[in-house]
Amino acid sequence: MKFHIITYGCQMNVYDSRMVASLFEMDGLEETDNPEDADIIIVNTCSVREHAERRALGRISSLQKLRREKPELVLVVIGCMAERLGDKIPGADFFIGPRKYDRLPEIIKKIVKGKCQISNFQFPKECIPYPNPDGGVTAFLPVMRGCNNFCSYCIVPYVRGNAVSRNPDDILGELRYLRERGVKEITLLGQSVNEYNFGEISFPELLRIIDREALGIRIRFLTSHPAYMSDDLIDAIAECDSVCENIHLPIQSGSDRILKLMERRYTVDGYRHWIQRLRKRIKGIALTTDIMVGFPTETEENFEETLKIVREVRFDFAYMFMYSERKGTKAALFPDDVLLGVKKERLERLIELQNGITREKNEELLGREIEILIERKSRRDNLPIGKTRTGKEVIVKMQNAKTGEYVNVYVESISGWTGIGRTHKREK
Ligand code: SAH
Ligand code: SF4
Ligand code: F3S
Repeated sequence: MKFHIITYGCQMNVYDSRMVASLFEMDGLEETDNPEDADIIIVNTCSVREHAERRALGRISSLQKLRREKPELVLVVIGCMAERLGDKIPGADFFIGPRKYDRLPEIIKKIVKGKCQISNFQFPKECIPYPNPDGGVTAFLPVMRGCNNFCSYCIVPYVRGNAVSRNPDDILGELRYLRERGVKEITLLGQSVNEYNFGEISFPELLRIIDREALGIRIRFLTSHPAYMSDDLIDAIAECDSVCENIHLPIQSGSDRILKLMERRYTVDGYRHWIQRLRKRIKGIALTTDIMVGFPTETEENFEETLKIVREVRFDFAYMFMYSERKGTKAALFPDDVLLGVKKERLERLIELQNGITREKNEELLGREIEILIERKSRRDNLPIGKTRTGKEVIVKMQNAKTGEYVNVYVESISGWTGIGRTHKREK
């Protein structure tokens, strides 16, 4: 029997899909890239914005044709939308949301009707099996599940449940498992990862523990919440060789009034403070962020405050979104009063500004010699492609640079946002 997985949403969903794949494989099933070959199709969904849900619903509906042609086909919907809507989703056989993932092995068994034994799967107490990285150079490793922050716009705490930090021993176990399988870069995951706390162990402490075991592996982490920043965390990033000079710190808005309505628990000045500390202590650190436009009551003036902080901070990269009302959140009680046309126009202006900055930031790579970890071959010309420690993509003009290898590259040009380099500086 074969299964096929379609994944929407964030890094946590990407990880969860690998976890589900490992469970099916333990039950003797084989993964296939082709939905038409599959006996079981799993759609892993996201609820963060209406658009994300619409895409997944569209996909589920387009799979109905296959279902009609092959009545024994089983369609399973997992992820945040399965939690939020459950069997209100038309056209599927099983629904299971993240709050019930500790029951996945049991449910998968029901789906497969197999006999294979799976022991004690209980996240976060035990995470068995660890998802197989399948020869990949990079992998995700969740250190926390769920979120308690209840930012007023956000559905995640409702669909993912309370924040639970994972036992460091279990985290190290998975880290070793990945290391033994040749993974060279691990991104630690948590909705508010710097809030991690297990007994006496804080997030900076966890980074130090992981650093001792990393042995040549690059470590990144996502997503940090400005309200949980600390000098100790900045010190840990600076001290730990494995931890990359790179932080994702969503600002959301440049207006204190809007930040308050979002219940983000920091001010623009507070945010600025951490940016200054980070840049001072960690040379060349790359800063990325998330920004939302069109939150209820956002005025043109408030939006311009967002543009102002974007100009001031000069993020290396930003994910930018239009506010999307999510039923059940506190912000859904506010009138969604910024007209769609206005939201669109603000988003366009923001993207134009930030993309210019991103381009300029990437141009700073020019003429520099930088360590690149080769991740894969580029699709267009089959050249090795990898990332700097700061997370920027560079194509390496050297056919024999192997995936998983670290190479020192001299960046000689930029195409779009991607650097192009060779391993040795060319003599004039
Ligand atoms: N835990 C992370 C990621 C949350 S979802 C964090 O705290 O940043 C990723 C991003 O989606 C958020 O940072 C936010 O910018 C955006 N987002 C969340 N809910 C949204 C909504 N209702 N409408 C539009 N964007 C939203
Ligand atoms: Fe959502 Fe806020 Fe939690 Fe991030 S920190 S997942 S934005 S509630
Ligand atoms: Fe989406 Fe759930 Fe992630 S709502 S962003 S898949 S936590």
